[in-house]
Amino acid sequence: MRLSNVHAIVTGGGSGIGTAIARALAAEGAWLTLIGRRQEALDAVAATIPGAIGVTADVTDRASIDTAFAAARAAHGPIGILVNNAGIAPTAPFAKVTAESWRATMATNLDALFHCCQAALPDLLAAPAGRIVTVASTAGLKGYGYTAPYVASKHGAIGLMRALATEFAATPLTANALCPGFTDTDIVATAIQTITSRTGRTEAEALAELTRHNPQKRLITPDEVAEAALWLCLPGSGSVTGQAIPIAGGEVM
Ligand code: NAI
Repeated sequence: MRLSNVHAIVTGGGSGIGTAIARALAAEGAWLTLIGRRQEALDAVAATIPGAIGVTADVTDRASIDTAFAAARAAHGPIGILVNNAGIAPTAPFAKVTAESWRATMATNLDALFHCCQAALPDLLAAPAGRIVTVASTAGLKGYGYTAPYVASKHGAIGLMRALATEFAATPLTANALCPGFTDTDIVATAIQTITSRTGRTEAEALAELTRHNPQKRLITPDEVAEAALWLCLPGSGSVTGQAIPIAGGEVM
């Protein structure tokens, strides 16, 4: 058990990649707090992970995060690992992106990282091997069409990790980003629905559109992302910081 008694917070832990990461960290002995907006969904997942709890918060709201992190500390002690995973991925041609959609995407995918990292910072700096892992995207490393706010927010997320890695390089705290390609979760299910309804293409054609960037021609699995997150969180990964690691079947960035 390489993460025995380490308290790990995973935002968006009630589904998809977040749940997979929570399971991987718990399997190494970490105590998990799953953050999300719906208590029932969080409780359902937490019940399947030994020692995990679900705490509701809207990651775009600093007061909500402060309250949730206080509840998390009361249950599991100081935070040793922060996994910024919550995110949204709206799609639209750039000319039709509304100001509301732009702001909501920035608030969830970027502002929330500022709130969560700052709220957890004192604990993370006091920890023997503090860790921040942000689930960014290949869209943080290159451009894609029809998803400009997402691409911009994920580039910002990687920039923040690089800034924190530099600022705290003299401490044991590391900050890294994971950059999955299209991964088999609700976000991709929604994207496939959007493509089929807007273009009349079949689900198979929509899936092929999404996997065409990946030389392996398949979706990434949440467990593959979780394995990388676990590795970054282990005490032996202390020299890996400020990185943006593609998990994308060899897609060239
Ligand atoms: P998902 O939709 O299952 O997970 C997103 C989670 O974020 C959900 O649990 C949702 O409730 C939570 N969330 C959204 N807004 C929130 C808010 N304001 N406050 C609290 N929680 C909030 O989808 P998935 O794929 O597991 O996404 C996880 C992360 O992985 C996201 O950051 C996404 O951008 C990223 N990602 C996903 C890829 C994919 O193809 N599925 C590829 C690359 C990155």
